[in-house]
Amino acid sequence: MIKKINELLKEVEEFATDSFDEAEEFRIRLLSKKGQISLLFNDFKALPPEEKKLVGQQLNTLKESALNKVNEIKQRIEEQKQQTSGSDKYPDLTLPVDFAEAGSRHPISIVRNQINGIFEKIGFVISEGPEIENDWHNFSALNFAEDHPARDMQDTFFVEKNPDVALRTHTSSVQVRVMNNQKPPIRTISPGRVFRNEAISARAHCIFHQVEGLYIDKGVSFADLKHVLDHFAREFFGPETKIRLRPSYFPFTEPSAEVDVSCPFCKGKGCNICKGTGWVEIMGCGMVDPNVLENCNIDSTVYTGYAFGMGIERITMLKYMVNDLRLYFENDLRFLRQFSSAW
Ligand code: DAH
Repeated sequence: MIKKINELLKEVEEFATDSFDEAEEFRIRLLSKKGQISLLFNDFKALPPEEKKLVGQQLNTLKESALNKVNEIKQRIEEQKQQTSGSDKYPDLTLPVDFAEAGSRHPISIVRNQINGIFEKIGFVISEGPEIENDWHNFSALNFAEDHPARDMQDTFFVEKNPDVALRTHTSSVQVRVMNNQKPPIRTISPGRVFRNEAISARAHCIFHQVEGLYIDKGVSFADLKHVLDHFAREFFGPETKIRLRPSYFPFTEPSAEVDVSCPFCKGKGCNICKGTGWVEIMGCGMVDPNVLENCNIDSTVYTGYAFGMGIERITMLKYMVNDLRLYFENDLRFLRQFSSAW
């Protein structure tokens, strides 16, 4: 009997198949009621007691290894079946839906839309102009002197070495286009991308964004300018925000000023963002120079106007505390995903 057990044990060890049916046949031949192992168990009952212990152990080992073998083979065949055809051909329709990941707006777009919204509510209309501009719209009409450093290759990207065609260095060029094409009253804001020949660093970039504002009508005064800027600052940074204007110079405005807001982080107390001053600069502004009005065929004896221009990256930095300009252009998803709930 031991001999028979050992023969079957060897057979079990050597048995291998990729066929489910063969495995089942094997099981029936050995383990079913009339199978060879079951028959051995019948014979076992008749053995003298002194042999029972050893034979019993071996018989149990045989039965167990036969069972394990059949189960292993069947399980492997089942898994292979699912991996190859099953799951691809017939996906599990009861699985929960795999929602496509929603994208998010870029922080620059979020802030641009907010700025647009604030001005649209008070009657400003959005206008846009081309990113490739000629000298007239970008410089000459805006009263830049012939020898102004901005006209230098060092500062401006010229297109194909043509001194008349350049990537616009500011959105003020859109003012000229609007004034050329529309009659006052004009009330417009112009968001857009601008380009300057700067080495890229945390604080400077050769591509950035601006929003330009322009209001031309009869009797527009500096007080109107101050009022609209005050309104914008409180809408954008919060109702407790204050503004201050410092005298400055731009070729296209006279008088000109630089606009500071009370630091949105420390509320004017002084921190490292505002370098302890309590104020941060957000834009340039002024009364449109009469030369610019005349260059655009608007009678400067009848009309006056104000203009302002702000950098969107700078405002975004003050909103989200992102102070490395390169982050806005690198398209790093770890950065962009942080804005996914902001619309
Ligand atoms: N164009 C200026 C710049 O790029 C910003 C600016 C200043 C625009 C004063 C204006 C203004 O309209 O009045 O730095």
